[in-house]
Amino acid sequence: MSPEIRRAAEILRAGGLVAFPTETVYGLGADASSREAMARLYAVKGRPADHPVIVHFASAEDAFSFSSEIPQAARTLAQRFWPGPLTLILKRSERAGNFVTGGQDSVGLRVPAHPVARELLQAFGGAIAAPSANRFGRVSPTTAAHVREDLGDDVDLVLEGGPAEVGIESTIVDVSGAHALLLRPGAITLGQLSEILPVREKTVETIRHSGGLERHYAPRTPARLVPTHRLDGEIAAMKESIAVLAFSRPDERVDFWIRMPRDPAAYANKLYAALRELDSAGCELILVEAPPESPEWLAVRDRLRRACE
Ligand code: TXA
Ligand code: MG
Repeated sequence: MSPEIRRAAEILRAGGLVAFPTETVYGLGADASSREAMARLYAVKGRPADHPVIVHFASAEDAFSFSSEIPQAARTLAQRFWPGPLTLILKRSERAGNFVTGGQDSVGLRVPAHPVARELLQAFGGAIAAPSANRFGRVSPTTAAHVREDLGDDVDLVLEGGPAEVGIESTIVDVSGAHALLLRPGAITLGQLSEILPVREKTVETIRHSGGLERHYAPRTPARLVPTHRLDGEIAAMKESIAVLAFSRPDERVDFWIRMPRDPAAYANKLYAALRELDSAGCELILVEAPPESPEWLAVRDRLRRACE
């Protein structure tokens, strides 16, 4: 075990906050069994007390100890996708305190795949509650530098793990009820899930979860989604200084332009860093070229819709 991981585990045991890399985004970790540590986590996040957080574990067995009822669907999904970018919502056991579930009778569980996250979980030996390591409502961090920018001295230690590979938050599937429900799309697609069991897309907002708030994951600069066929016209008509996120080559009329890949996974990997860059370009408006309507773009469309007004 590296000295840094040892120190991180000690900080967690003492009720402190450790930011760590996962394959999706960086998480802000606290001891999930400590009410005091969780209170500090919520304060630093600026997150309302009734919003639940995801709890991270070293193994599926550890994760399931936080649930009182584990349907076969949950075991099958865990076997197939853990460790990995999937969060399962299950009925909670008494080990999952109100201070991690936001007072709900369910809990979000995840076994991350990133080697640094796994080392930390093993060294700590318990459950680590970790929302994305940004302030409430802002774009999630995909590098350790993003975390430091957002949280500064409010976090006791930031573990370095390179840029997050997936780049957007985990797929969330609620398996606590009669039908599996997709609450948040992610790298594990509806298609992949559907090969294993029937999963419905959530249609109405039934549960409080901050990823479900309309404007979330948002840059400070106003951002607008524009269909491809209207992009050129919008740019031509623009009086403000604009920054653009698009698939095509930079247009010389535009001050700041980021070109994005046409592959959805590569796009997701770059998305949050790009939004941060566009946000700091000092423009008055961000125009985002809308990605295709096909299923493999579902997760990216979801995040862009929330980032734009
Ligand atoms: O990829 C991820 O999931 C990252 C990394 C750090 O693991 N974490 C993350 O956490 O995105 P957070 O807290 O920023 O988003 C968690 C989402 C929120 O929308 C939260 O409300 C929802 O999961 N959630 C957690 N527990 C839930 C529950 N019991 N029922 C419904 N939604 C829940
Ligand atoms: Mg978040």
